Amino acid sequence: MSTAAEPPIDPNRPSTARIADLFLGGAHHFASDRAVAARAIELLPDTPAIARANRAFLRRAVRYAAERGIRQFLDLGSGIPSANNVRQAARDVAPDAQLVHVDIDPTAVLYARHQLDGDPRAAAVHGDLLHPEALLDEPEVQNLLDLDQPLAVLLSSVLHFLPDGPALDAALAGYREAAAPGSVLAISHVTPSDHTELTERFTALYNRTETPLTPRKPDEVERLFAGWRLVEPGLVYCPEWRPDPDDEPVSDPARFVTLGGVGER
Ligand SMILES: C[S@@+](CC[C@H](N)C(=O)[O-])C[C@H]1O[C@@H](n2cnc3c(N)ncnc32)[C@H](O)[C@@H]1O
Repeated sequence: MSTAAEPPIDPNRPSTARIADLFLGGAHHFASDRAVAARAIELLPDTPAIARANRAFLRRAVRYAAERGIRQFLDLGSGIPSANNVRQAARDVAPDAQLVHVDIDPTAVLYARHQLDGDPRAAAVHGDLLHPEALLDEPEVQNLLDLDQPLAVLLSSVLHFLPDGPALDAALAGYREAAAPGSVLAISHVTPSDHTELTERFTALYNRTETPLTPRKPDEVERLFAGWRLVEPGLVYCPEWRPDPDDEPVSDPARFVTLGGVGER
């Protein structure tokens, strides 16, 4: 099921999901994606490391939620699942965790379904996260998520693909209002460095995809948590968010360009 007719996969139009998969060492990409990824790495050689640091943040945020007792996860803009994915992170702590992955990109949904392999406690749904009411009404979502219980809403590396405006504000309000007390919201988000020209070049590059880039400054990212209380250490560069004890210390966290934070309500 989906909030809109599921479009066919277009190998000629670069896809954010497939480009991210490439950065993470996956194999689900076409020549059009490889061209954008190559240019991105040329502009910023750290790009694959940035993608890995983001996924590592996401795993830690999921584990945090599961350790708080949360047993249901709504993964919005879920992308193409890698070996170290959200479902695995949740199930490592909570084998009974129920998950819904949502993506607007048919490639991401295809591979997510393939990886779920009939898992009765998880589903991949095609949809636009800007339509929370329709998404939360999907039969798979209704079957898997009990909105009377705490929920983890995951918005990892996706909000910078959505422009500011009433549609985004209403969507964030929709998830916040749907989430029972005790829920958490995890966001990671690209933040421009001082290199304005680099940001402009990146933005122009992603204009080739279906999902152009809207980088935001730290205070603008913090506003996306409206109605949620940020837990310690607040909104920080991804490697700084509750690193694992055996993680290598990071001397220059701003190099990772992406901020991460978790809010609770
Ligand atoms: C960079 S990937 C992030 C994947 C994963 N969440 C992660 O953190 O590694 C961004 C994903 O968001 C998806 N996306 C972009 N806009 C979306 C929207 N309006 N609704 C749902 N998914 C969207 C893209 O298709 C892509 O798969």
